[in-house]
Amino acid sequence: MARLTTHATFPRRRALNGGTALRNSILAIDIGGTGLKATVIDASGGFLADRVRVETPIGAPPREIVRILADLAHQLPAYDCISVGFPGVVRNGIIKTAANLGHDGWIGYDLAVALREVLGCPVRVMNDADLQGLGAIGGEGVEIVITLGTGFGTGIYLNGSVGPHLELAHHPFRKGETYEEQLGNAARKDIGNERWNRRVSKAIVQLRELLHFDMLYIGGGNAKHLELEASADVKIVSNSAGLSGGAKLWANG
Ligand code: BGC
Repeated sequence: MARLTTHATFPRRRALNGGTALRNSILAIDIGGTGLKATVIDASGGFLADRVRVETPIGAPPREIVRILADLAHQLPAYDCISVGFPGVVRNGIIKTAANLGHDGWIGYDLAVALREVLGCPVRVMNDADLQGLGAIGGEGVEIVITLGTGFGTGIYLNGSVGPHLELAHHPFRKGETYEEQLGNAARKDIGNERWNRRVSKAIVQLRELLHFDMLYIGGGNAKHLELEASADVKIVSNSAGLSGGAKLWANG
């Protein structure tokens, strides 16, 4: 079984580079259904470099995505360790589902080990929405994140700690369709922003009844299309949380 590793176990990328070292620097990667994004962040999630991005080659095998991620990493400054947000269910670095990446090879793929082998430093992988929430939450009470992008991501937190992964995307929402079928990017393009906004509002009502959250954060690339009525318990967050949240994966060493 794959294990997450500590800094001490593997050579650090900056040691391999021998170049200008930055302290507490983390290569933050966000694997999306539309874009592969990366930057280097500090221990508080602050960006130490401009984000680099390429289109996600949907249907490409995992090893090809790993190669592209390595190319992105080589455009960035040195780092000690790596955080990855992945658009599916992840357990101990191993991918369990990957609904929007279009390749069966993801199932059972040990992404943490694959990236560690290519980039030579420790890797932690988490579901993308769970990770994005870590970059957005206030740390009190029951907090929820939803991400509106290619897919529909969800995460839940209690007093700042991430809870069991919520995979609402593929659960029934309304009219015989799942949350993702109703709220994902394909649906938004199909029905237009106005109707899509009405659906998002209905989802918020439903999630409030289901989870009685204190705060709901909405992120993802399509959050920019939202025109919701203001509500004290709903906040739209910057998509940069999808990278900056990666700092929390290394907060306890
Ligand atoms: C996946 C989730 C993911 C979400 C956003 C869904 O299709 O099942 O795990 O968080 O897309 O990327």
